Amino acid sequence: MNTADFQFLSAILKQRSGLVLTEEKAYLLESRLMPVARKFGFAGLPELVAMVREDRPEDLLCDITEAMTTNESLFFRDMKPFEQLRSLVIPQLVEKRAANRTLRIWSAAASSGQEPYSIGILLKELGNLLEGWDIQILATDISADMLNRARAGLYTQFEVQRGLPIATLVKYFKQVGEKWRLDANIRSMVKFKEFNLLDDTAVLGQFDIVFCRNVLIYFDQQTKSEVLNRISSVMPNDGVLYLGGAETVLGITDKFVPITGHRGMYAISGGEPALKSA
Ligand SMILES: C[S@@+](CC[C@H](N)C(=O)[O-])C[C@H]1O[C@@H](n2cnc3c(N)ncnc32)[C@H](O)[C@@H]1O
Repeated sequence: MNTADFQFLSAILKQRSGLVLTEEKAYLLESRLMPVARKFGFAGLPELVAMVREDRPEDLLCDITEAMTTNESLFFRDMKPFEQLRSLVIPQLVEKRAANRTLRIWSAAASSGQEPYSIGILLKELGNLLEGWDIQILATDISADMLNRARAGLYTQFEVQRGLPIATLVKYFKQVGEKWRLDANIRSMVKFKEFNLLDDTAVLGQFDIVFCRNVLIYFDQQTKSEVLNRISSVMPNDGVLYLGGAETVLGITDKFVPITGHRGMYAISGGEPALKSA
């Protein structure tokens, strides 16, 4: 692909999704867009680019954006955040929310569903603690394809082997042909919705806990800061934010501060996190 076409497509991608593509990733653009070109009946990428330049058809732009997302995910990714959620964050929020017995959790880049479903399984495992509570888990992503996969709750052997303890697999999944389907009760705990992190978060309501993991790494500084600021605006001052292992708020926003002793967890600045120090 020539430089002009690369720059043209990466500018569109950045504007639509925040995703930044550096020139050394040009090969990625080519390999991921070939299937899109084929789907739309183009002979190759030059024809695809020509069509985008001429008409900017929305369906083609959507497919280009989705094709450029990286959707890697796994159950209980990095484990530690989920352990902290189970042993510290949820018990303390349960005390704090005892009056209205409602908890809202947002998985903000949910991909194929492993993250929100891990949260669902974890909450189910807490048993009586949340009996009678209104627990809402909202899972959003920019990719409609990924959300459809997530809704189906159907995973390959490879996917269930990554991160899921065997006892959890046996307890919550049923083998269907060569795949594994997650239990309907856990699936029903999660609501999926298409949502672009560049958009206004106010439409989603308030969240006590937000998982926004392994997506900010693909954005530039300004986008990271804008996304985090918008997320902070939908959290109460005792809310807890989880970021991925390679992500931070430091030097990006002053709306959040790291929670001492708990890597990957952040509190609203000046707030009172639902988590005492380690
Ligand atoms: C690497 S996955 C992370 C999945 C999960 N959070 C985890 O940590 O395992 C990144 C996800 O971010 C989504 N994404 C990228 N840009 C987005 C945007 N602007 N708005 C919402 N989701 C976006 C992608 O579609 C992809 O599914």
